[in-house]
Amino acid sequence: MGISVVPLAGALGAEVRGVDVSRPQGDATFAALYRAFLDHGVVYLRDQPLPREAQLAFARHFGTPEVHPIVDGMAGNPEVIRIAKPPGERAFFGTAWHTDNSFLPKPSSITFLYADAVPPVGGDTLFASMERAWAALSEPMRRFLAPLRAVHSASSAYDPGVTGDAKYRGETAITYTLSDAVYAKAEHPVMRTHPETGRPSLYVNATFTQFVVGLARAESDALLAMLYDHAARPDFTCRLRWEPGTLAMWDNRCVQHYAVDDYERFERVMYRVTIEGEAPA
Ligand code: SIN
Repeated sequence: MGISVVPLAGALGAEVRGVDVSRPQGDATFAALYRAFLDHGVVYLRDQPLPREAQLAFARHFGTPEVHPIVDGMAGNPEVIRIAKPPGERAFFGTAWHTDNSFLPKPSSITFLYADAVPPVGGDTLFASMERAWAALSEPMRRFLAPLRAVHSASSAYDPGVTGDAKYRGETAITYTLSDAVYAKAEHPVMRTHPETGRPSLYVNATFTQFVVGLARAESDALLAMLYDHAARPDFTCRLRWEPGTLAMWDNRCVQHYAVDDYERFERVMYRVTIEGEAPA
């Protein structure tokens, strides 16, 4: 059976059909899948029965899975984060625009997210193309932003003083471990160039970016607020409705995402693997 790629929206996103991830795949299949991933920013495959070891083995074809420095991985498979929200608990993981782990000096390149249990309605994930966002800025604004750098940190998302310490005390479905990683800072360019496609994209996000280097605080806050607003324009987005067995793969080097928190009464269980990336340039 051949692979087909069905776009989800004009800006980004595509369903890839004709791949059964649980079976051995030839190089040509991986190459076609990776091509679709580079072309569309986020791709997803439906109806994949996928135990954790198989998800990890699949991810390893695209790079080295990493262990999150703060969020606890699974016993036996520390590179896999179980993103679980039981009925009645509010979702808190990924519920704002971000690129995964941009607070690291070498932020994650690819994320693989597998849906195990999903609510009957709700719990979708939004994605936004930062290539579209960059291209839609005016020429003078792009010229102003291109040489700038910004500081990213995990602290606003993970500092127990801000978020409460229930997650560090093991009282929530997803648990965290406190370390210096919560407070470490990484500096990245505001415009990054994709290491494989060479395409430029906007690289600041509302969850982890703290300030633009060299600007006054008020200037930086106003600039970032404008850029976050711009980056979330519906024109640059697509929305993935999960089904049990959906496996998505997105490119954190040029895509932001947002886990929609609209299903309080229901359970949602996802498994996430991220791939070690490179220093943005
Ligand atoms: C994430 O932010 O990596 C998780 C997204 C989701 O649960 O939809």
